[in-house]
Amino acid sequence: MLNWFPGHMNAARRAIREAMPKIDLVIEVLDARIPFSSENPLVAELRGDRQCIQILNKADLADPEVTAAWLARLDAREGLLAMTHQQHQPTLNQRMLRRVRALVPPKPSRPVMAMILGIPNVGKSTLINALSGRTIAVTGNKPAITRHQQRVAVGRDLVLWDTPGFLWPRLSPPACGYRLAVTGAISDRVVEAQDIAEFAVGFLVERYPDRLIHHFRLTDLPSEGNAAVLEAIGRRRGYLRKGGVVDLERAANALLKDLGAGSLGRISLETPADCVSS
Ligand code: G4P
Repeated sequence: MLNWFPGHMNAARRAIREAMPKIDLVIEVLDARIPFSSENPLVAELRGDRQCIQILNKADLADPEVTAAWLARLDAREGLLAMTHQQHQPTLNQRMLRRVRALVPPKPSRPVMAMILGIPNVGKSTLINALSGRTIAVTGNKPAITRHQQRVAVGRDLVLWDTPGFLWPRLSPPACGYRLAVTGAISDRVVEAQDIAEFAVGFLVERYPDRLIHHFRLTDLPSEGNAAVLEAIGRRRGYLRKGGVVDLERAANALLKDLGAGSLGRISLETPADCVSS
């Protein structure tokens, strides 16, 4: 099985628990394409009765109809407020700050402390930079780049606490792990691209077959299984090894790159209905 749990996850959890008494509000950043799989099951326990805003980030990459369904479901839970966010949308930053300030009234003696939680690569640093109007947090496409906690002031009345990205992602059912890998939350050093790509192919064949066909200019979808579809993609792209054998790893990486970049259109990898019984 894949190594989903790097050792410093426990350290991250401990650091968060120790800092929590100073925190007034939790901002949990979820990936809008996988709101269930990217939710940390430990956040509810760690935050206690503090208010929590769940941000469906990277909403520009997710299917807007599915995102609307998620918002309705998440918002219905007690103590939670859900909203979408995406980078390069200044009005969304203002909207979010208004809601943060409305949820926790200003304190006379000190700024409101908001802790930002979320799985690796979900966009925490990008969000902090956008909200603070500065470029302090280091952003990058490799998970776990933010290893230490840092605080960033937003005006005089609000401080954002960044936290290490390695938390406790949902790993059950197994599809959650695959969805996390497809969206880039799990490092490509610890997972097999081909395995992940075959999962993605299976999902796309079921939910978005036309986009798969159109994007990769396939004539049809082979019915022999996900590996055969990947092979067709590689063949179409001309990814051939000696003897005309398709380079499946290259095809897998191309599929994951294009899917992650939104080149197949706005795609959500799970709906509320998919996660009902999970
Ligand atoms: P983290 O702190 O949670 O680990 O995530 P970070 O902000 O470093 O963001 C990880 C990647 O996700 C970055 O891309 C960032 O640009 C991208 N990202 C963040 N928010 C959004 C969003 O709303 N929409 C989209 N489409 N992408 C988002 P990167 O690969 O490092 O590239 P670059 O953009 O920094 O060049």
